[in-house]
Amino acid sequence: MEVPVKVWALLVLLSVCLKTVLCFSNGKVEQACDDMTPEHGHQSSPHPPPYSITVDKSKFSPLEQIKVTLSAVPSENKAHFKGFLIEARNASNPNAGPVGCFTLLDPEISQLLRCNDREGAAVSHTSEVSKTEVQVIWTAPQDPPSSVQFQVTVVQKYKLYWVRIQGPVVSLNDAPPLPPLPTAGQSVAKTTTAASILSDAFTSDDCGIKKSCLREPAGCDPWKDALCYFLSFRTEDASVVFELSGPAPGYISFALSTDKWMGEDDVYLCIKEDDRVDISAAYVQGRTHPVIASENVLRDTAWRLADGVIQCRFRRNIRIPATYQNRSDLGEAHYLFMAHGRAEGGRTHRHDRQPLISTNPVLITGLPEDLTGSRSHLLIKFHAVFMLIAWMTTVSTGVIIARYFKPDWAETTLCGQRVWFQFHRALMLVTVLLTCIGFILPFVYRGGWSKRAGSHPYLGCTVMALALIQPIMALFRPAPDTSRRYVFNWLHLGTGMIAQVIAVVAICLGIHQQALLLPAPWSTGVLAGYVVWFVLADLVLEVHRRGLFSIGQFVKSFEIHTENIQTEDREEILFVPSENESYIKGHCFKKIVLAVYLCGNLGFLIILLATIGAV
Ligand code: HEM
Ligand SMILES: *[C@@H]1O[C@H](CO)[C@@H](O)[C@H](O)[C@H]1NC(C)=O
Ligand SMILES: *[C@@H]1O[C@H](CO)[C@@H](O)[C@H](O)[C@H]1NC(C)=O
Repeated sequence: MEVPVKVWALLVLLSVCLKTVLCFSNGKVEQACDDMTPEHGHQSSPHPPPYSITVDKSKFSPLEQIKVTLSAVPSENKAHFKGFLIEARNASNPNAGPVGCFTLLDPEISQLLRCNDREGAAVSHTSEVSKTEVQVIWTAPQDPPSSVQFQVTVVQKYKLYWVRIQGPVVSLNDAPPLPPLPTAGQSVAKTTTAASILSDAFTSDDCGIKKSCLREPAGCDPWKDALCYFLSFRTEDASVVFELSGPAPGYISFALSTDKWMGEDDVYLCIKEDDRVDISAAYVQGRTHPVIASENVLRDTAWRLADGVIQCRFRRNIRIPATYQNRSDLGEAHYLFMAHGRAEGGRTHRHDRQPLISTNPVLITGLPEDLTGSRSHLLIKFHAVFMLIAWMTTVSTGVIIARYFKPDWAETTLCGQRVWFQFHRALMLVTVLLTCIGFILPFVYRGGWSKRAGSHPYLGCTVMALALIQPIMALFRPAPDTSRRYVFNWLHLGTGMIAQVIAVVAICLGIHQQALLLPAPWSTGVLAGYVVWFVLADLVLEVHRRGLFSIGQFVKSFEIHTENIQTEDREEILFVPSENESYIKGHCFKKIVLAVYLCGNLGFLIILLATIGAV
């Protein structure tokens, strides 16, 4: 009995030794110098690594030193690590092996490795103890590559590791190192702390859980989606960490405002300058250029430039002493504005698009939440809604009724007037009313005439004028049986048609306004669909009226038609058909066409209104 126990004990001991050797918990991983891959027989994790690699400089000279920090992202659950391997590689030829050499800052947890016969070419762990951060110093070689990238393999547990996480890229100063300043006695130390470079894009994983996020499009993730505009913030003790990301040619920014208008706002700018990003606080007074603050109130700044996306992160104290004026108190609720645009020589241009504004005021230090925002003001949305209802639906229905439904309901009257006329008048009055209300709204929004809206406002004013002329003209129309009635008929028809055409053009331009940018070319397609639908309905009714649907009636109907035009056609507006049997028979058909037309029309209208609601 004794022997097997001893054998077991030996086997267990052996397997422990074997395991230790196989996974190198002592960190002597020299044979991984080149491929940086642990021989654990698993795949590198496909998920974004919960670690960040930062550097304290983005530029270096030969033999200059850079501090490299590998740390677990604090917001991630249990993101400590057991093993790591840090190397610097020629960024233009990353497979050519390590460059430069390291010195240790944390010798208990890190050790130097010998790669390609060079001592200190890489750094690894010393034991399996869980760590959350390690710092090392890298020294550039005498003749370094023009850019160097730090690459790190991190082992969280035996089966869970990330191979060659792509860290920050640092580049060689093309200028030779500056000689010491000749001005003796006055050594003005520049106090700006260098921003570090982010190793990876921000993610939206913790939005609403550990940090608050304002995003466009809603729910997007800057880690996956290069078109994502993203602002997040998270309170840590007495400070708040902000992350800002988005595609932009020159800058991205956000502002804290007490109202939904620009002006008197606390602004934070991340401006791209050549191949780096300047992170600063600024202030806008009125609708002017932001003025960059002279005091440095931002700490722990870091940035990243990739695929046209500017990303930056910084920390700010919740309260900033009154001596640093213009910095709002993060303990109070503010509207958040996000804007981006071009920049030149560190100076920002006006934003390319309307700023994204949070729907409600937000308490920055409040509980994490997923925020919503919009680039369009409610006034402008209502402007578009009123105009679309008026010039897509009510006007076209009113026109169809006037053109094709005059002979119907010949015997019935509605409040002393013929039925078609009551419908026509009511629909057109609604159109004019909606146009009047919708017309005022953009002026209220702009506080005057808009200079950046192109020809849309001019066309809009023309439509408004024509829409007002129509009812006035109708009010003073000559009686049906007078000889000048045809003048009114033509004018009324002409003005109405011109107004309708200009309105469609104005709407086409309207949906491409910056103040209410509907998705293109899709929304233009819906609009074109509406126009085609209207023309189609008009055509069907016209063909039907001419009796072309039933050949037998064609000749008869045609005769009646021509006869009518000569005799009694003074009565009403232009296309006056006679009230004879064949038309009354077609009454049902016309009603069906009108109903089908209205259904389609309302479909197009609802699609556009829903789109407006969503932007
Ligand atoms: C026939 C219908 C329409 C008329 C008569 C009309 C009329 C006008 C007028 C007169 C203005 C100028 C206000 C100013 O300069 O401050 C304006 C501005 C504007 N309209 Fe329209 N509009 C129509 C349809 C639409 C539609 C359908 C949309 C959007 C879907 C739209 C979007 C806008 C926007 C966003 C502005 C503000 C531009 C700016 O200030 O940046 N409009 N409209
Ligand atoms: C870095 O890689 C590039 C591209 O292969 C090469 O031209 C350059 O000489 C390398 N630099 C050094 C210092 O090895
Ligand atoms: C805010 O900043 C602007 C521009 O830098 C300055 O003119 C203004 O006086 C400041 N306001 C306060 C209250 O300090």
